[in-house]
Amino acid sequence: MENNHKIVFSAVQPSGKLTIGNYLGSIKNWIALQEEYQCIYCVADMHAITVRQEPAALRQRTYELVALYMASGLDPEKCTLFVQSHVPAHAQLAWVLNCNTMFGELSRMTQFKDKSAKHADNINAGLFTYPALMAADILLYQTDLVPVGQDQMQHIELTRDVAGRFNSVYSPTFKMPEGLVHRNGAKIMSLSEPQKKMSKSDENTNAFILMLDDRDTIIRKCKRAVTDSEAQVRFGEGKDGINNLMTIYACFTGKTMEEIEKEFEGRGYGDFKLAVGEAVADGLAPIQDEFARLTKDKTYLESVMAKGAEAASRLAGRTMAKVYRKVGFIG
Ligand code: TYM
Repeated sequence: MENNHKIVFSAVQPSGKLTIGNYLGSIKNWIALQEEYQCIYCVADMHAITVRQEPAALRQRTYELVALYMASGLDPEKCTLFVQSHVPAHAQLAWVLNCNTMFGELSRMTQFKDKSAKHADNINAGLFTYPALMAADILLYQTDLVPVGQDQMQHIELTRDVAGRFNSVYSPTFKMPEGLVHRNGAKIMSLSEPQKKMSKSDENTNAFILMLDDRDTIIRKCKRAVTDSEAQVRFGEGKDGINNLMTIYACFTGKTMEEIEKEFEGRGYGDFKLAVGEAVADGLAPIQDEFARLTKDKTYLESVMAKGAEAASRLAGRTMAKVYRKVGFIG
């Protein structure tokens, strides 16, 4: 890792099984970045407890997410992979940023509105102030770029507002990060209600494809995907279902929309859906095999986490020392 490289930071919550939305909107795009930038990728376990988690399951999913990062192609020799709760600076900076984030700003976050509607029995303060923790994640590393799906852009905007406010009150401290949203795959939609985002917490399991779904399940879910009555594989208005399947197919095959339209000209949706299912299954198969191998070796996963936490702590410590000094804490 060289110091003159731009810094990339991103994270995923270990709060359930990952969907192909998570993969295409984030992790898949992180792989190429590790060749060019100084990349720091985090398993955001502290974010996960904003909704009630079963402790043993959370622990298990945290191991699994580290394994899934690596199985997807993230190389711990090329980037820093770590678990958020292993680096206490995240909680420390989050508190300082909480004191520089406005109630009104947090109230406007759509994710908070959605999640508090979904978990009406547990609208805790962490759920509300979660974007301040996310801002801390990003700002601790003097991050330049944050590769995420579309739904996280509002939190990145807030991060920029908070960084700007802190910098102007206390003097320049944080670099201004930018969100990086991929042209394709930034918003993968539900297979059963294609006006809605694909989400791992959807009650209807046919609405999403999990990264660890087996081949038959993937193909079955694609076959059941909601489309339209036009029977033409064409990207266009009013064709949310087909647009979504075309996007998924494009992401897994690298083909353009024009190429896909040509490929399926004069063919029905049945053929197309099967092809999408096969492309997804083929794309995920090597990841699933590697995941199965890695999850067997907890000791190795722990060594990756420990090395990552050490590297991340070193970087985070520099920002934290500055922040504490600037706000008036005795160092
Ligand atoms: P999370 O865990 O909900 O989602 C992880 C990543 O997956 C993307 N994503 C999608 N992309 C395309 N289509 C979809 N249907 C879809 N669903 C999810 C998300 O945009 C995200 O990039 N708060 C974050 C985790 C986080 C974080 C951070 C991210 C914590 N700290 C700092 C960036 C920087 C979250 O809950 O993502």
